[in-house]
Amino acid sequence: MAGSTPDRLIAELDARGLSWPAVVEHYDEIGSTSDRLKERLRAGAVPWTVVIADRQSAGRGRHGRRWVSPRGNLYLSVLVEPVLPPRLLTVVPLVAGLAVAEALLEWGADPRLKWPNDVWLGERKVAGVLAEGVAGEDRTSIVLGIGVNVNADPEAEAPELGGGAVSLHAATGRWVEPVAVGAAVLARLVSRLASLESAGPGPALMAWRGRSIAWWGSEVEVVSGESLVRGRAVDVDERGALLLRLPDGATVAVVSGEARLVRLAADPTPEVT
Ligand code: BTN
Repeated sequence: MAGSTPDRLIAELDARGLSWPAVVEHYDEIGSTSDRLKERLRAGAVPWTVVIADRQSAGRGRHGRRWVSPRGNLYLSVLVEPVLPPRLLTVVPLVAGLAVAEALLEWGADPRLKWPNDVWLGERKVAGVLAEGVAGEDRTSIVLGIGVNVNADPEAEAPELGGGAVSLHAATGRWVEPVAVGAAVLARLVSRLASLESAGPGPALMAWRGRSIAWWGSEVEVVSGESLVRGRAVDVDERGALLLRLPDGATVAVVSGEARLVRLAADPTPEVT
């Protein structure tokens, strides 16, 4: 497809019936699209402003990690300002992850969500979302930074990822234009956020559960800052918090953190009597 990246993105969105209401800014290379979008926000950017880049030299992941950003993948940040009660804003990152997973279905993938918003293909991560809230005087803006390994394997540049990452291309054999994935993600995000505003978190969370990895009932560990919580994964609540059942039977809601499945060395075989 010919034309500049913003023109192509806007044309793809038009084809999906969406007339994009804000500026799309494109860079061949930038430090981080989310950092650039925050600069634009300070200068008065309106909701749905997009910054997209072909590669990033200082891509940021969750928990201060680096997001390896070679050419061939999607690096997109979008400004959203959903009209929601403040206590429900924590569900927005999950909804963004859901939008990414639903977009990847278009290319024949079977994405799964790992709480809160990692997108996996098989046992490996294909996409991540970095949601950063920016409180203003009368509104809260959220910069959603979305990275999808579309065609390039980040491990070629960062072997330390140790087999944890995968690209859409490696999983499906298809070469896909990152900008096409960007349009699919934005279209899903618009529709999921509209439903969140009009119907509350129920429908999105139902869809999120349906796409989540099958770890319900299993032992999970969540690291959140200095603290670590371990328990059986039960569900997510209406804020998108992960509900863990502790050994004493109490249930705790963990709002943010890095979760991993605990593989028990010797799961006892149940006795059959
Ligand atoms: C994660 O750790 O899973 C989140 C990764 C988010 C990466 C994206 S790429 C576009 C945007 N710009 C950044 O610097 N980070 C996000």
